Amino acid sequence: MSEALLVVEDLHVEIPTRRGTVEAVRGASFTVERGETFALVGESGSGKTMTCRAILRLVHPPGAITRGSIRFQGRDLVHLPEREVQRIRGTTVVMVFQDPMTALNPVLTVEEQITEAVPRSPSPASRRSRALELLRQVGMPDPERRLGAYPHQLSGGQRQRVMLAIALARRPALLVADEPTTALDVTIQAQILRLIVRLQKEYEMALILVTHDLGVVYQVVDRVAVMYAGQVVELATKADLFAHPRHPYTIGLIRSIPSVDRRRRLTPIPGIPPDLVGLGPGCPFAPRCAWASDECRAGEIPFLRVGEGHWSRCLKALQVGAAADA
Ligand SMILES: Nc1ncnc2c1ncn2[C@@H]1O[C@H](COP(=O)(O)OP(=O)(O)OP(=O)(O)O)[C@@H](O)[C@H]1O
Ligand SMILES: [Mg+2]
Repeated sequence: MSEALLVVEDLHVEIPTRRGTVEAVRGASFTVERGETFALVGESGSGKTMTCRAILRLVHPPGAITRGSIRFQGRDLVHLPEREVQRIRGTTVVMVFQDPMTALNPVLTVEEQITEAVPRSPSPASRRSRALELLRQVGMPDPERRLGAYPHQLSGGQRQRVMLAIALARRPALLVADEPTTALDVTIQAQILRLIVRLQKEYEMALILVTHDLGVVYQVVDRVAVMYAGQVVELATKADLFAHPRHPYTIGLIRSIPSVDRRRRLTPIPGIPPDLVGLGPGCPFAPRCAWASDECRAGEIPFLRVGEGHWSRCLKALQVGAAADA
């Protein structure tokens, strides 16, 4: 069997600060297949953005990848020379950020920003028509007129559509979308998300979708990595994750999804996420976990295979699972 499109193994990202070293990512492992829709979920500060930035080698110094490997199309991204990484970043792996205003260039028009990303083609006219075609594909209203607009003249949703057009212009094999809709109105969020998923299929891209919304995951993705305190704590197909969760944190997340049935109350996970400076050994979720015992607090917790393509970083995975399935 050939290797997956993206293989992330034991990834560590550390950021030195005055307070000490922030261990933003502490041994994340997962794979993404060609054309797959993959979600990274977890609460704020769990390391989702840092993991994405590491994949694009966009961790800002003094932050750095300190351990582990990232292979994309068989190439080692961690040790690739910067020039090569730039080429990959501009063509095969692209990222759409949470806030399109900061990612767009305020002094260039929409047309200039999209054509900059269109691969060299014979004439300016054909690049212009490609830019127009892309704007139509991302559902931009009145696209001819919007070609000459500057980012500040657009709404948040329209800016995110421009970001998508720029991303698609490169025909990437992997699109990394870091909470692409959280800055938008709720009604626009659903539209943009549907658009991303439709374009993903049309362009046959793999998609890493970062979200803290398990409802979104349930609707659109194939597989899920649940992150907690810089680690992937559960990795599974969507069906397995929702029907047979094998980590107490995942179970807590699923229970906290607002139910359509209003009689069922929301049950948030009690406690707060750990500080990522000077985390000791043991499971970082133990202080919030009803199942935790002394062995959970003591040593390294391995990433255990609990089923076909299903992994959990919990010593009690089987007991927890039996209870969840019951
Ligand atoms: N520049 C920085 N300096 C210090 N710590 C940082 C820096 N950037 C991120 N961190 C820390 O690294 C950890 C992981 O951050 P990251 O942004 O990846 O989280 P996230 O899962 O994307 O959260 P969110 O859902 O809020 O976007 C957090 O604890 C965060 O506080
Ligand atoms: Mg983030």
